[in-house]
Amino acid sequence: MANINETIVPDPNLYEYEAAGSYDIDDWQSETTSIGSSMYRGLEENGRKYQTLKATESFTPSDEKQFESYEAGHITALVMEADRENPLFRAPIKNPKHILDIGTGRGSWAVDVADTFPDATVRGVDLFPPPIEWLPPNCILEVDDVLQGWTWQEPFDLVHLRILEGSFTPEEQKRLYAEIYKNIRPGGWIEQLELTPHFVSDDGSLPPDNILADWGQTLINAGNKSGRPFNLFDTCQDHIKEAGFVDREIYLAKWPLGPWPRDKRLKEAGTVNHEHWSIGMEGYGMFLFTKFGDPVPWSKEEVQVYTAKLRNELKNPRFHIYHEAKRVWARKPFPEEEAAAAAAVKKEPKSP
Ligand SMILES: C[S@@+](CC[C@H](N)C(=O)[O-])C[C@H]1O[C@@H](n2cnc3c(N)ncnc32)[C@H](O)[C@@H]1O
Repeated sequence: MANINETIVPDPNLYEYEAAGSYDIDDWQSETTSIGSSMYRGLEENGRKYQTLKATESFTPSDEKQFESYEAGHITALVMEADRENPLFRAPIKNPKHILDIGTGRGSWAVDVADTFPDATVRGVDLFPPPIEWLPPNCILEVDDVLQGWTWQEPFDLVHLRILEGSFTPEEQKRLYAEIYKNIRPGGWIEQLELTPHFVSDDGSLPPDNILADWGQTLINAGNKSGRPFNLFDTCQDHIKEAGFVDREIYLAKWPLGPWPRDKRLKEAGTVNHEHWSIGMEGYGMFLFTKFGDPVPWSKEEVQVYTAKLRNELKNPRFHIYHEAKRVWARKPFPEEEAAAAAAVKKEPKSP
């Protein structure tokens, strides 16, 4: 659904409300959150502030707003995959026993996977504890830095990563994928989902000089300056291959922003995705722009004004915007496959 080769068809009915002066995306939000009510849950629980293990290095805040944004991102991912039997991951795993979610955020993915696979132990790890009061008995949320030596004993059947843009330096990325490879059992899987922050439209409805068209690059520039680039959307498939994984699959999709699509499922995804970005943008930008903004670091007020303008533009139903999402999954080879691959490399004639 809405894979990268399909154009999303806009909903003409939306503009009747607009013409009548009764279109307000916030009304739409409350209406469609009840459509997705079984999925869109728990937002009111996020009422507390948390500390991070390494506050100076993580650009994402650990406050209720950010967790709310993560939850909306999680729901968007589920709605986008809702036509699949398992909307949580695509790796073809049977009876997993040990699963790890790196940078678990609010822990929603780990909790849902634990509910779906009651015989598995699902660990979610992050720099700060999420505001979750109840966990399934087979889900463990841990506070740790995945760049430090891993101490988990059991090899994993699946290691999952999602929306980790801007979290690691290029050297840390290399180290992380090598560590993941080491800690997955032969035949086990890695899966990663990344989003590009570039907002685009296929039909030219987003004017190129609109502030929304500029947001992705502004964020990427600040990430580059910080030394923790927003490049995983482009590079994660290469990291996965270079670490040694095989049978790699890549799925690209368009995630709409706003209730503008005609298709009911995409309308629902777009509505929740609108919440995801509209709540999360200030949190994503505040640390980066006040420290690494262009041409000089921005003031807090400048970031607030900028993100308020973005939020305002995001409400415009005439912009048929989306961003791309990339899902990559791959398998750790068995020892005999590794040996055969190593022998094949040895046999290759050396270039003069
Ligand atoms: C944008 S959030 C995504 C959260 C979650 N994966 C999701 O999709 O909702 C990125 C998360 O990665 C975590 N993170 C960044 N660096 C980390 C590290 N070195 N160790 C553990 N978690 C890390 C951050 O604290 C943050 O919660």
